[in-house]
Amino acid sequence: MPENIEPTAAFDEYEQAALNAIAAAGSAEGLEAVRIEFLGKNKGRLRDLQKLLGAADKQQRPVLGKRFNSVKTAVIQTLEQRRTELSRPKAEAVGVDITLPGTPVRLGRRHPLTQTIEEFKDIIGRFGFSVAEGPEIEDEHHNFISLNIPADHPARDPLENFYLATAETASGGPVLLRTQTSTVQIRVMQQTEPPIRVVSLGRVYRPDTIDATHCCMFHQMEGLMVGEGVTMAQLKTVLTMFASAYLGHDVPIRFRPSFFPFTEPSVEVDMLWDENWLELGGAGMVDPNVLRAVGYDPDAVSGFAFGLGIERFCMRRHQITDIRRFFENDVRFLRQF
Ligand code: PHE
Repeated sequence: MPENIEPTAAFDEYEQAALNAIAAAGSAEGLEAVRIEFLGKNKGRLRDLQKLLGAADKQQRPVLGKRFNSVKTAVIQTLEQRRTELSRPKAEAVGVDITLPGTPVRLGRRHPLTQTIEEFKDIIGRFGFSVAEGPEIEDEHHNFISLNIPADHPARDPLENFYLATAETASGGPVLLRTQTSTVQIRVMQQTEPPIRVVSLGRVYRPDTIDATHCCMFHQMEGLMVGEGVTMAQLKTVLTMFASAYLGHDVPIRFRPSFFPFTEPSVEVDMLWDENWLELGGAGMVDPNVLRAVGYDPDAVSGFAFGLGIERFCMRRHQITDIRRFFENDVRFLRQF
């Protein structure tokens, strides 16, 4: 080793060279060659450094000795680390890149219509209405006859309804998918005595041409209140309270004259929502013929009924412009609620 080489510089150079060689070693064998070159007992480059140390004068030696030890330790440690790294199974070998970000776990959520239905039940429940259920496959008695819809009424046209051919023979009479939740009014009144306060939320079916605002299946909330002295004013109060609770502030309700065979008088109901009237559905005072058909005395009790379209509320609240989105089950849509 030439005299004029500065020992510290030699240490630095050794350390740098050793660390580079360790990093470049691609296999256990390659790394072993590096170890022999830099740390080997006989001809290794560490021995040259040791000689430099031996040749140094007395004052320099303690400082150089320290430096020697730290360089040696650093090289040994780095070498051990690299050895562990090289002994691990290679990522490519098992076809998994563990450094890639993982697939996030997405939580499922309830369908927007289900959320709306739950909210409706919750609000109307606070006004003392309990929830009743009815079948989606109905006979003509519940869907039409008891609701004062005569045989020649256009609503009973086979083209306006989904009659079920096979079920017909099984049950004896014609059956169809219910066109309205008003069928549940009849079922409830047949089984209960007044006073009655129920709602029924569910699917109804109509062979409408499908477009952005029509579907052959949609949801309604039917309401029925029967008792002594039930009035139209109470109907309007309940609907106003319901709409206000849904929007969280006072909302005007508007009645427009209409006709339904099972209510008299009948109205269409609108609510004012952000300066626009939204059509909610139909309502009215239960027709005396309907009360009679279920064995009630129309002189003793009166009642109101309403049927609201559930999709409309949900579409309006979430600015959904196409009713078909509800039923396509595209997760990119559903994930937003
Ligand atoms: N059943 C009616 C419809 O589907 C709505 C309605 C319900 C009207 C109750 C009056 C009373 O259009």
